[in-house]
Amino acid sequence: MAREFTRVGVVGLGTMGAGIVEVFARNGVDVVAVEISEAALARGRATLARSTDRAVAKAKLAEAERDALHSRVDFQVGLDALHAVDLVVEAVPEQLDLKRRIFAELDRVCRPDTILATNTSSLSVTDVAVATDRPRQVVGMHFFNPAPVMKLVEVVRTVITAAEVVDDVEALCARLGKVAVTIGDRAGFIANALLFGYLNQAVSLFEARYVTREDLDAAMRLGCRLPMGPLALLDLIGLDTAYEILNTMYRRGGRDRRHAPAPLLRQMVTAGLLGRKSGRGFYTYDRPGSSTVVPDEWTPAATPAGADGAREVTRVGIVGSGTLAAGLVGLFGRAGYQVVSVTGEAQEPTGLGQAVRDSLDEEVRRGGLDGVDRDAALARITWSATLDQLADVDLVVEAVTGGPGVEQTLFASLDEICKPGVLLATTGSSLPVIEVAMATGRPADVLGLHFVDPAAAVPLVEVVRTVRTSAEATATARAVCAALGRTAVVCGDRAGRVVDALLFPYLNDAVRMLEAGYATADGIDHAMTLGCGYPAGPFALLDTIGLDVALAAQRALYRESREPGLAPAPLLEHLVTAGYLGRGTGRGFRDHTPR
Ligand SMILES: NC(=O)c1ccc[n+]([C@@H]2O[C@H](COP(=O)([O-])OP(=O)(O)OC[C@H]3O[C@@H](n4cnc5c(N)ncnc54)[C@H](O)[C@@H]3O)[C@@H](O)[C@H]2O)c1
Repeated sequence: MAREFTRVGVVGLGTMGAGIVEVFARNGVDVVAVEISEAALARGRATLARSTDRAVAKAKLAEAERDALHSRVDFQVGLDALHAVDLVVEAVPEQLDLKRRIFAELDRVCRPDTILATNTSSLSVTDVAVATDRPRQVVGMHFFNPAPVMKLVEVVRTVITAAEVVDDVEALCARLGKVAVTIGDRAGFIANALLFGYLNQAVSLFEARYVTREDLDAAMRLGCRLPMGPLALLDLIGLDTAYEILNTMYRRGGRDRRHAPAPLLRQMVTAGLLGRKSGRGFYTYDRPGSSTVVPDEWTPAATPAGADGAREVTRVGIVGSGTLAAGLVGLFGRAGYQVVSVTGEAQEPTGLGQAVRDSLDEEVRRGGLDGVDRDAALARITWSATLDQLADVDLVVEAVTGGPGVEQTLFASLDEICKPGVLLATTGSSLPVIEVAMATGRPADVLGLHFVDPAAAVPLVEVVRTVRTSAEATATARAVCAALGRTAVVCGDRAGRVVDALLFPYLNDAVRMLEAGYATADGIDHAMTLGCGYPAGPFALLDTIGLDVALAAQRALYRESREPGLAPAPLLEHLVTAGYLGRGTGRGFRDHTPR
């Protein structure tokens, strides 16, 4: 029989604590909510009121339920108020000394049978536990932000925690409507160990001016379907908290340089730019605690049409005959461009032509296009066997597959054939774009257009600007992407651009975690979907993308950066060698029914 928790305490009512109070009180548990001062208590109370009022406004909570919820919360200053609770969840700032002091004090104040839990993200629960005389009754209860919404709780069991305490806390999580994943005491547990390297890397890309904050966040939202971009997420977490978590992870997690906090984070924290809670972080908010972003000096100015030097594009050549080329022919045709598809066959090529028709028919079925527009799109496409037909196009998009040197040879030919001022774009990702650009005599007009496959479905295009690309060429690419109904993200010419550079190291880290035996593939997938709101966990995603594709991308990132933490995980290499490539081969990290 699991233990009954009727009255619990929460210490610290900041970003996390106020949400944790709400979770308990919503589920019928009485809460003693404790802060350090009357002012902090008032802030915590206001946060709870705002959150429950929002839930009422969205019809997720009835007014009577909200009032009942508030009547269950007893707001108090000082830990002495916790003498009669069954469980305490501590959510004070991420500092070991502070937490140890609070746990020693809780040990003195609370009944001997009270369970003490910490919501720490990265500190050692064991270090906190041994500050008390009841280390067997100390666990980690790591809620996710926002606590009322995210379903996951990481229950952290130390080597001293009693088994029945873990059982009781797991049962309590179920009663709160949460999914508990129980794990050992390791820096960052599951989710933060995978999340914070990614967040820190994102800050570094922004700090290096490789990409703007808006483009960076859009890339991860649209390219990976994440609920928030990394900089917006850091503002939600709190930059001070994120800084402390990274610092601890760096110290506890083997001094991986990828966890050494980006210098910009430190500067922002020192300047009081803490994110939403202070009203300003990477973005500016209409008031402290608000989620409403307001324009500031970094907000891109709306440029009047034509003022950015974008050139007019009406005729587009697409070179290639694979899936991507087919997707692009349909996409440009639909958007009203005259398209010359160069495939090596003078007639409409059977496979490619059918693929274009199929993708447009699919759009008609989905209601995104009517039959007349489909026919008009098809009428705008001409098929060509040779590059000569590209003499008068305004943009060429290369989407060929081939061995080394193929792209450079092709661009050298385009340089001879195309009229001056044409934008030449490569969709390839195996070579730096500048190597392709330098095969022409017009590198200022060459850039990368990285469409995420399937091009017809993913609303993002990475526009890769080399050190020689002109501002006009970049502006033209942006305008074309907008005309295609796609969001353009402009970035520098580095391996993985934005999305792959941030995605694959995270996937590789997940494989390392599995390899180390810290958690199961299911546990890790749950942590990222239920704790961070990701649409798929890393192993589900790896099996879909293909392990060989992931390995190649990771190798490219490692080759370019020489960063030891980016070396491909041995388990990933072994699975690829064994031919376990994911869904396509029926087996990857999981078994799949063969297609
Ligand atoms: N922010 C997140 O997204 C997130 C997510 C999961 C876990 N966590 C963890 O939760 C904990 C709290 O983080 P946060 O972001 O909510 O911090 P926060 O700074 O927003 O809130 C901390 C609160 O603790 C209060 N406090 C400080 N000393 C106290 C004391 N002696 N007694 C009572 N209250 C005291 C402060 O007044 C403040 O309101 C940290 O361990 C953090 O790692 C944070």
